[in-house]
Amino acid sequence: MNDLFLRACRREPVERTPIWIMRQAGRYLPEYRAVREKVDFVTLCKTPELAAEVTLQPIDRLNFDAAILFSDIMVPVEPMGFKVSFEPGPVIDRPVRTPDDIDRMRLSDPEEEVPFVYETIRILRQELADRVPLIGFGGAPFTLAAYLVEGRGSKNFEGIKRLIFADPGSAHRLLEKIAEATIRYLAAQVRAGAQALQLFDSWAGLLGRAEYEEFGLRHARRVLDGLRETGVPLIYFALNSSHLLHEIRHCGADVVGVDWRLPLNEASERLEHRFVLQGNLDPTVLFAPPEQVGRQAARVLDLASGLPGHIFNLGHGVLPGTPVESVQALVEAVRTTSARMSDGSG
Ligand code: CP3
Repeated sequence: MNDLFLRACRREPVERTPIWIMRQAGRYLPEYRAVREKVDFVTLCKTPELAAEVTLQPIDRLNFDAAILFSDIMVPVEPMGFKVSFEPGPVIDRPVRTPDDIDRMRLSDPEEEVPFVYETIRILRQELADRVPLIGFGGAPFTLAAYLVEGRGSKNFEGIKRLIFADPGSAHRLLEKIAEATIRYLAAQVRAGAQALQLFDSWAGLLGRAEYEEFGLRHARRVLDGLRETGVPLIYFALNSSHLLHEIRHCGADVVGVDWRLPLNEASERLEHRFVLQGNLDPTVLFAPPEQVGRQAARVLDLASGLPGHIFNLGHGVLPGTPVESVQALVEAVRTTSARMSDGSG
């Protein structure tokens, strides 16, 4: 089995740097677009055979060192009592508007409410047959709350920020409910076979330090602490969080994902070298010619060379329209360059 990714998460020695990329199953792949021509995104998420098929597409074609479950961070909010559609970003039918809306939110058994997630994981473990490990994932409480209050994607997410400042008690109740539901949702992913978990905090960067500590970090930490007993490596990724890394030191994960805004060595300093880091090539580098891709990947590897551990990834998801050949060039560059660096001849 190729367990480079899991070994890197646990800070064990690796002969080269493992690589996977966020949104590796997606619209940049022609075979993904072919499946999407036949079914909409929600049907794809809810049909285990199809979700498993698209999860495997980037593994088969590009040889990544880990697979990530094909799903969405909004999947577990339906059992909490919300209707979600995608246009293409998530849209909530009746967003949270009053304290009553928070009281009405349900805490249910995810294995009963979203069985397709767990069935997809079981199929994947069988089909992967230990080729590479499978990562499960969910959204962090603040990021899910941002969508639940705003109702859809937004530049500033002023809805959740207003709630934090105007009615912090309700904000905490909302975040606590989401945290509890997320622990159940993700612990069940591990029971079904997920071998690592990533918590996505895509909107945490909208918060200043004090608010992040109270409303972002505290609830993300609650989720990660609640998942510790699953025994699998835990990854925390907050986009746009360079100003929050000092707080993120206390997140309770094993691995911290870093976006492209800070060099990895500096991010690690701010984190007091407590974590394996995951990242952080700017996804738009993949629109440059292959030799530039190789050069920029080598820069990231170089900056990561003194860290407690490194998993190569992009600084955020791969963009639709990215040439597949660039992703191929990236995987090859990371393999050869990191292998050369670790055998001492680089
Ligand atoms: O990484 C992977 O390959 C696994 C799949 C995955 C998806 N969404 C599939 C998806 C993962 C890990 C996510 C997480 C997710 N979803 C996040 C956190 C990561 C991030 O991007 O910050 C967020 C914020 C969402 C919410 C969401 N879902 C948005 C904003 C969108 C629109 C994205 C877009 O580019 O249009 C979605 C829909 C979505 N989720 C798509 C995919 C492949 C596009 C659907 C399609 O039209 O095929």
